Amino acid sequence: MSAEYTVQGQVAVITLNNPPVNGLGLETRTAAVQAIGRAEADEAVKAIVLTGAGKAFSGGADIREFNSPKALTEPTLHTLIRTVEGSSKPVVAAIHSVCMGGGLELALGCNYRVAAAGAQIALPEVKLGLIPGAGGTQRLPRLVGIERALEMIVTGVPVPSEKLAGSALFDELVPDASELLSAAIKFAENIADVRPLPKVRDRKVAHPDLDAFLKGARERVKAAAGAFPAPVACVDAIAASATMPFEDGLKFERDRFLQLKETTESKALRHSFFAERAASKIPDVPADTPLRNIAKAAVIGAGTMGAGIAMNFANAGIPVTILEMKRDALDKGFATIRKNYESALKKGKLTSEKLEERLNLISGTLSYEEIADADIVIEAVFEEMAVKAQVFRELDKVMKPGAILASNTSTLDINKIAAVTSRPQDVIGLHFFSPAQVMKLLEIVRGAQTGKDVLATALALSKKLKKTGVVAGVCDGFIGNRMLEQYLRQAGFLLDEGATPEQVDKAIEKFGFAMGPFRMSDLAGNDVGWYIRKRRAVESPHLVYSRTADILCELGRFGQKSGAGWYDYKPGDRHAHPSQLVNDMIADYSRQQGIRRRKVSDEEIIERLVYALVNEGARILEEGIALRASDIDMVYLSGYGFPLHRGGPMFYADTVGLPHVLEAIERYARGRHGEAWAPAPLMVRLAIEGKGFVS
Ligand code: NAI
Repeated sequence: MSAEYTVQGQVAVITLNNPPVNGLGLETRTAAVQAIGRAEADEAVKAIVLTGAGKAFSGGADIREFNSPKALTEPTLHTLIRTVEGSSKPVVAAIHSVCMGGGLELALGCNYRVAAAGAQIALPEVKLGLIPGAGGTQRLPRLVGIERALEMIVTGVPVPSEKLAGSALFDELVPDASELLSAAIKFAENIADVRPLPKVRDRKVAHPDLDAFLKGARERVKAAAGAFPAPVACVDAIAASATMPFEDGLKFERDRFLQLKETTESKALRHSFFAERAASKIPDVPADTPLRNIAKAAVIGAGTMGAGIAMNFANAGIPVTILEMKRDALDKGFATIRKNYESALKKGKLTSEKLEERLNLISGTLSYEEIADADIVIEAVFEEMAVKAQVFRELDKVMKPGAILASNTSTLDINKIAAVTSRPQDVIGLHFFSPAQVMKLLEIVRGAQTGKDVLATALALSKKLKKTGVVAGVCDGFIGNRMLEQYLRQAGFLLDEGATPEQVDKAIEKFGFAMGPFRMSDLAGNDVGWYIRKRRAVESPHLVYSRTADILCELGRFGQKSGAGWYDYKPGDRHAHPSQLVNDMIADYSRQQGIRRRKVSDEEIIERLVYALVNEGARILEEGIALRASDIDMVYLSGYGFPLHRGGPMFYADTVGLPHVLEAIERYARGRHGEAWAPAPLMVRLAIEGKGFVS
């Protein structure tokens, strides 16, 4: 049963029942339409209450039906809403907990709405690159006014029911959710005989200065929407609610909805929505794998990463102890933490009580004995195997049995780290991104012997820390940094051949990246990559790089932290100014290499940077380092500033078409350093089969 039918006195109660959030899938819609019919036919029934079982009134469309023809099978959501609206007996929506998307559109089709305080009301379709498609843009403005409807529909942000209390949206607000149903039934009894039945469609949308309001709104929304067409389409549809007859407005909304559904931007957003959910599912780790309890944490190293990682635990209410070698390093880490919290306080993101509460959850020590009873310890010391091995030997000695031993290493072999302990099943990589208290991505590196319960616990922890956890296998750089390596190599070669850091950054930022490779390296510290390249020069001497990044470091230009990197920086200012010295250094280097500098087009920059990611991503997928193409996209969307409207590198390659991508790769393979462009066998195979990475 996906909708239950009961009768209480003269009132029929229809309860949507499709866990977890009463998504309006085909079965639920069918059952609801039948239940309305049953109530209509029942002579003893004078009014109908429509509500939802469990945790929601309704969360809207059933996401399991998203890309299936079921969504368009009758009765569609439109038909259900028309059935409700066309009922000869009054229908009262009893709204609680979650009332979103199609769920709210259904409630708007009812004659009356009674809501419990604390219910979350939203039309979040814009977050998937869509507009509400079942009357939401036409009916909501008729009840809450055009300004408020615009705010809700353009942002998609949920509004608590009590904040909408003054509007015509709710006929009654019930303070105590446990009394909602009885209050709604009572309400239904009281209005049972009122005729004509009030319908939202019969109301008018009024605004004292409509044209000016719409013009201002359109400009404001357009400026904020960036590459996404949906927010402006929301404004257009809402405008239709004020300027067109109701049925025409509905049709306008429907047409725009269907157009948007086919846009790459909406497909990219829907891809990322599903990718995030898919990432937490590991085929050989059942959903009911028992988890280890994480009530107490420890972090080794109070540097850039350690301090941020500790803040994550404090923010989640988990006490955490940071261990350092020396008191002054610990003090420095605590000063960073305090500074970060104080800046959040200044921005109004934190209250001073919360600040103290969080600081109180973080303690420091110089002794391993004091962290021995932590449930998880995350090592964030220097990126050197010898240092990490020594730390893990120590942890193996002191940590209680069953404690999870994690490393935040960016590139080192988790299996080698695990091998220095007597408990490799407890060892895992937890790769945070800088700044660790801000960045959403958490790469979870599964070693050859990592326990399934440890992996499941790490995934659950990532949710608790409000991160997007993506599982990666062991290799140099895991998913994100291994791909980045190829991207940065191309960025370096582009400099050698004739581009400047500024041109490369501008081109890729125009493509939509949050930050180009050179601005990013200046932010992260050029010395980090320098150190890694030195290691790789020993381990993989065949790999060729542009030497410009090394020369930069030899000049002491480590980036923002040293006041100069690929760009110049004025004290206290993060703005990047092109550097004549660096541009001359690059030109000198080209000359030494016997390269005749040429004009490099923006198109070439974008292709070479993005296809370098795609090609390496294909290898990572083929080797099983990533479980799915969508996991790679999640890593790039949540950790590397890849443009959301393009859906991640693998999704993007699919939209370009793999034969096109391959053709470009083969072209670059014939150029300078062509060996970097050997096409990944998986990509070649998929291109021949006419398939994509994601589809
Ligand atoms: P950092 O140099 O800022 O901090 C390292 C800290 O570890 C220092 O405070 C040092 O005193 C302490 N330390 C060193 N040896 C120790 C030991 N034996 N016992 C206790 N403390 C010790 O380095 P950062 O940037 O925080 O990097 C730490 C780890 O995180 C590295 O493995 C790095 O690859 C990784 N990582 C760094 C990212 C970044 O953007 N900086 C991003 C993601 C991972």
